[in-house]
Order: sequence, then C-alpha cells, then structure tokens
Amino acid sequence: METQVGIVGAGPAGLVLSHLLHLAGIDSVVLEQRSRSYVESRIRAGVLEQGSTDLLIETGVGARMLAEGAVHEGVNLQFDGQRHRIDLARLTGRRITVYGQQEVVKDLIAARLAAGGTIVFEADDVTPRGIDGAHPTIAFRHEGSERELSCDVVAGCDGFHGVCRGLIPDGVLTEFAREYPFAWLGVLAQVAPSTDELIYAFHARGFALHSLRSPEISRLYLQVDPADDIANWPDDRIWEELQLRLASPGWALDEGSIVEKAITAMRSYVCEPMQHGHLYLAGDAAHIVPPTGAKGMNLAIADVTVLARALSDWFGGGDHGGLDAYSERCLRRVWRVQDFSNTMTELMHVLPRGDPFASRVQLARQRYVATSAAMQHTIAENYVGLPLA
Ligand code: FAD
Ligand code: PHB
Repeated sequence: METQVGIVGAGPAGLVLSHLLHLAGIDSVVLEQRSRSYVESRIRAGVLEQGSTDLLIETGVGARMLAEGAVHEGVNLQFDGQRHRIDLARLTGRRITVYGQQEVVKDLIAARLAAGGTIVFEADDVTPRGIDGAHPTIAFRHEGSERELSCDVVAGCDGFHGVCRGLIPDGVLTEFAREYPFAWLGVLAQVAPSTDELIYAFHARGFALHSLRSPEISRLYLQVDPADDIANWPDDRIWEELQLRLASPGWALDEGSIVEKAITAMRSYVCEPMQHGHLYLAGDAAHIVPPTGAKGMNLAIADVTVLARALSDWFGGGDHGGLDAYSERCLRRVWRVQDFSNTMTELMHVLPRGDPFASRVQLARQRYVATSAAMQHTIAENYVGLPLA
C-alpha cells in the first residue's frame, strides 16, 4: 500500500486530518487498532468550541451536528450551592456546541468512506519505521497477514497510549507532566437533563458536573479518588452524591437509569517537540489536559488544522516552512489550554491533602470568579476557545 500521509489512529485528530487532507487533494490512509463499532461508541468529550464547529460545518461534515447538537450561550459555575452564570455569548460573541465526541467520529468516518477514503480498522501491531529518512513505512497486521504502508509523512494521531510518541528519541523529547490527586467518575444516564446549560459545581464533598447529550440523555461527573473502584459506586450512591453536590436552592436533579459508568484519571501532559523527522504528533498523542476545561477534543482538532495546512503547502508547492514550524505553532495554543484547564481544575476540585493555604487561595479565587466581570470574561474567552491559528 502507498499513500502520501500515513495516519495512525481514527480518533478526532486522525479523522479530521484525513478529511482536511482529502479536501486539499492529498491522499491518506488511516490505521486504527480498534473496530469501527468500538471507536463509534467510545464515550468521551462533549463540548465543541465554536472554532471546532465552524471547521466541521465549513468542511461539509456538520449537518448532523447542526441538527442534533445543542448550541449553548452560557455555562454555570457553582460554589456551595450558589450558581454563577458565565454569559459566553454576551462576553465573547461566541458559543459552544454540546455534541458527543463519538457522534463527531461517526460523522467523520461516514464522510471519509463516502469519499472513497481508506480507514483500516483492527490494524494490529502498527509500527512506523524510517521516520528519519525520506521514505517512512508503517508495518501492521490485518486479518492475519503482514502489511506495509509506504508514505511520505507519518501523522501520529494515536492518543496518549499510542506508539508514535515513543519514536521520538531520548534526548530530543522533553516531557512535562502533572498528575492530579483526583479522578472523574463519569456516567451516562437515561433522563432528561435537569438543566439547559452545563453546571460545574464545587462542593465540600468534591466536584460535580452536570452536562448533557440530548433531550433524553444526561452526562454527569463526580470527583473521586483515583484509586477508587467503580465497583464501589452502585447507581444509588452515584445519585445520592450528585444530589448533594449539585444541590442549589429552588432546583431539583431528576434521576434516571445509568447506562454507562467509568472512572478516568486526570493528568496534564505535554511532549516537546511534537515532531521529529517525518513524524508529526497531533492530539492526545502529544498532550493531555484534565477535562475540566472541556478542551481535549478541541485541541486535537486545532493541531490537525495547523498540520493539514502545513502539509498542503509542502505537497502543493514544496514549501516546508509550515511543517518546520508545526510544533512551535501548536505548542503556543497547547500551553494556553494547559493553563486554562489547570486553572479550572484547581478552582473546582476539593484538594484532598488538606493544604490550608491552598484552600484559602482557592476560596478567594472562587469569590473572585463569582463577583468579577473581568475574571468571568477571562473564563468565557478561554472556554469558547481562542480562534484557530
Ligand atoms: P483519541 O481519541 O484517543 O484517538 C486515538 C486513536 O488511536 C484511538 O481510536 C485509538 O484506538 C487509536 N490507537 C491507539 N494506539 C494505536 C495503535 N498503536 N495503532 C493504531 N491505532 C491506535 N475530553 C474532554 O474534553 N471531556 C471529557 O469528558 C473527556 N473524557 C475523556 C475520557 C477518556 C476515557 C479519555 C481517554 C479521554 C477523555 N477526554 C475528554 C479527552 C478527549 O476525548 C481526547 O482529548 C480526544 O479523544 C483526543 O482525540 P485524539 O484523536 O487525539 O485521540
Ligand atoms: C461532557 O459533556 O462530557 C463534558 C463537558 C464538559 C467538560 C467535560 C466533559 O468539561
């Protein structure tokens, strides 16, 4: 097999990249280790920045999102029962769209296949080789036979646990990481959301988030200990805890049957540079943010927008400038988003190890968010997303 861009991973990064390259007349092949049904049903993020929705609409894959996604003009931050609405639309003129990541993935897969694109699902032992030379290859196994894809460039869109980042040699790669002493227990519940807009709640018992998926499905999260086991969380306990943490005067949380629940650890991580030889990393393969800023999927889309443009300049006219500058351009946004995601995380979670100074600073910050138009503007600007580079 031969292509111009060999893409490892069919998450938002790999699929958006393949789609943008196709529109630029550049051939790509996507190699994905999981099955199509697995990637289409994996429940993850749900908030799209306006820049991400604009991109999906402008490139012809936004029809179902426009029909089924919900445009939100505000978001609520709650401290000890008091809700403070951040008016995103008034403060920034921009909005967010609530639309599940797996729906974005479904739409992109359908568009790629309809356009004759190649996505190899259930590709095992994907092994890129020769990224330092002019002719990289990607070896893999599919349906029992050994295969090889020749390409000009390898795009590592294989998420945090993928194989591509490991190809950047020691001595070239610098890693920046922060682990958080808490995790999120996420549930999908068959019940109409009790709110029209997201509620991020700080409570002495821990953080809780009420998000939405559709008029019939709610998405909810609880701060838990990272060592906790989902087996310790029967549905009754989850609802009890959500009721306590999300409680606000004059408001009630409706309960329903929980159809999915899982605990996810939280971390911040960046690798620099995001490129080496003919390998370019994008999305979670290069960086992870804690989910409190709702940024992971958006950052993946921002990376590949930069990469697609750079590849188009190179394949189209031999201009390597965009590719040379790829990592540097992406990292500016990555670190901005790291700062915002870290700030939101430390603002909204109960810090478990009882650091009295940190707790007082956190309280001061929460009061500032609740009362300062300037601080609300800052949160709004970052939450809706800075314009795509
Ligand atoms: P991914 O979506 O991880 O896609 C990578 C793809 O590569 C996957 O399909 C994977 O199967 C494939 N792959 C991996 N290794 C290989 C290999 N060796 N060979 C071939 N294919 C491979 N963000 C939020 O904003 N809010 C959330 O609530 C939220 N929840 C999350 C929950 C979980 C459990 C996780 C892991 C992430 C969550 N995120 C959330 C983050 C967000 O979903 C990611 O930032 C987003 O998926 C990044 O897209 P990506 O394409 O870079 O990576
Ligand atoms: C979600 O709907 O899954 C969601 C929303 C906001 C976040 C994280 C996740 O910050």
